[in-house]
Amino acid sequence: MIADKVLSQSELFIGLPPEAPRVVAAACQARRFPKGSVLFEKGDPGDSLYILLSGKVRIYRESLAGKLKTLAYFHPPQVFGEMSLVEDRPRSATAVAEEATEVLVLYRDYYLQLIRRYPLLAHNLARIVAARLREMNDEVLFLTFEEARSKVAFALLKLRRHRHGAPREQGWFVPIVHQEIANLAGTSRETATRVVHELRDRGVIESVPGGLLLKDLEALETVLYGL
Ligand code: CMP
Repeated sequence: MIADKVLSQSELFIGLPPEAPRVVAAACQARRFPKGSVLFEKGDPGDSLYILLSGKVRIYRESLAGKLKTLAYFHPPQVFGEMSLVEDRPRSATAVAEEATEVLVLYRDYYLQLIRRYPLLAHNLARIVAARLREMNDEVLFLTFEEARSKVAFALLKLRRHRHGAPREQGWFVPIVHQEIANLAGTSRETATRVVHELRDRGVIESVPGGLLLKDLEALETVLYGL
């Protein structure tokens, strides 16, 4: 089954016996979401974890003033929705399908049964959450203290690190519009556009149809550290 194959590449299964992805897949419910649909909204009751099989999901929050902040993009075989599953509290953010998306949904009762059988599964989930917190600390530092250029560079490098987009001959293609760069970097759209133009003029990135081409990752790292 294709689901087992995707699951076996997930960090959830590091160190687990080879049959574990099949057993977990059998305990999950498969669901499909069309492009643009909402998987869940902030505040919804949540008693399940999602494992992405195909497509792409964006997680975001909205400020009191109605500004959007994209927290993360998820790609197969990443896991999300674990916070409500573990804490037994409402969803902490909204999840939207950026493309036609297929997920496996693992409900809490099954999760609790599975971690009795495979205790490492819970440890692996804790590892995933710890890695996200570590990354979020970096992000908080950049978004709090650095100037707009570094914020935009951080956002673009984060997208590249998460393999959001695809490789092209002259660099890494990121499908993104300026408003979305602003949503990631915590700037206004005008500021995001100004920085994009500046980076383009320096030859670090290129504007191409449908997004940006990250041409010089080293130079982008340099911009990140304000050099
Ligand atoms: P949950 O709160 O159940 O629903 C929203 C999900 O978004 C959450 O679980 C996490 O899986 C994910 N999420 C929330 N905040 C972040 C973040 N800062 N970085 C990455 N993922 C997040």
